[in-house]
Amino acid sequence: MLLSSALITLWALTTTACDLPAHIQRRADKTAITNVHVYDGTQFSTDLKTVVIVGGLISSAAVTDAPTVDGQGGYLAPGFIDSHCHLTSCSFLTPLRQYGITTGLDMGTFPYSSLKACRANGATDVRGPGPAATVNGSAISGLPGYPTSDFIPNSSAAAKFVAKRVVDGVDYIKVFLDPAGPDAQTLSALVSAAHIAGKLVIAHATTVADYQKATAAKVDILTHVPVDAPLDAATVNAIKSNGQRVVPTLFMMKSILTNTGAPPNFYVQNAQESLSRMYKAGIPVATGTDANNNPFIPANPPFGESLHEEFELLVQAGVSTKDVINGATSIAASTFRINDRGAIKLGQRADLVLLGANPLTDITNSRSIKKVWVQGVSS
Ligand SMILES: *[C@@H]1O[C@H](CO)[C@@H](O)[C@H](O)[C@H]1NC(C)=O
Ligand SMILES: *[C@@H]1O[C@H](CO)[C@@H](O)[C@H](O)[C@H]1NC(C)=O
Repeated sequence: MLLSSALITLWALTTTACDLPAHIQRRADKTAITNVHVYDGTQFSTDLKTVVIVGGLISSAAVTDAPTVDGQGGYLAPGFIDSHCHLTSCSFLTPLRQYGITTGLDMGTFPYSSLKACRANGATDVRGPGPAATVNGSAISGLPGYPTSDFIPNSSAAAKFVAKRVVDGVDYIKVFLDPAGPDAQTLSALVSAAHIAGKLVIAHATTVADYQKATAAKVDILTHVPVDAPLDAATVNAIKSNGQRVVPTLFMMKSILTNTGAPPNFYVQNAQESLSRMYKAGIPVATGTDANNNPFIPANPPFGESLHEEFELLVQAGVSTKDVINGATSIAASTFRINDRGAIKLGQRADLVLLGANPLTDITNSRSIKKVWVQGVSS
């Protein structure tokens, strides 16, 4: 008796970090969300519909015996995906969820095991690359605890870096481009090794030169946008014909330019213009914030809230409200090949956000969050 209660106490203690926050309810086996306009990737249904969740997935089961949540004429969208954040603490999952973000794609928290430890039933789902690949002397090479034995000074080190990350079990490979390197050959070696291992490569690039380098090396995803000049037409066309995708992080770029005293026109003239040119060329844009709380980084977008700031900046840059919502749902899912989410469809994860007002008519309605489900677990 004593032993078993001691064991239970021990179990409770050791599972606390990953356990459900108190405000999140246990998953009901079945839930019917009634009276909602449902997003289909293009528009919200005019009619009020019912969406059924069974076992954490969108279902077509009969609704007669399911507990009901009355959506009261609200707007049901797929849960949002933040395609660029830095989840150095599991506690950041709480604001993500509160702001409708049901998947957080980390861009460089190490070790990868610390990110994986944040996975919990009903909590915002997380994916990540472990440490970003970089060279000695880059802006991130001096981050406390960075695994300096993993620097990629040459092609063979780049291949080894990928092999190590594959052993760690990472979801994708991140590379940090910087004036210090890596050089084009090393970057190509990294991309080849990652592709052979079946991993996508995401490149940090904030200048036209780094965008050109990442484009030539055929990385899969470019994150951030150039802040030094508007992106040239030849590079835009190359990105388009390579089938590459972008996660612009406009709010971060704007915040950095402000915080570092860059001329005020740099944001509109360079960052926003680069994004506009890519969007007009038809390059898919996934939505990310660069939310982080790192004192070494020149701006710290707040977790959760910053996605809605990003939405507004994308609309200001000329992106349609539909493409903004898709950039945080279906486009993000296809960009990162997480095909079990991003749409309200039979068999998809029941990652859902219920809004009080239509975000397609006014993007600030993305903030009118009434309820969030992660794999069918509501808050
Ligand atoms: C990185 O460069 C510094 C300065 O040149 C050097 O002292 C240090 O040993 C280098 N670290 C590694 C891991 O190569
Ligand atoms: C590549 O870099 C690694 C790690 O610094 C080093 O040990 C190795 O000798 C280098 N290889 C070549 C061919 O330069």
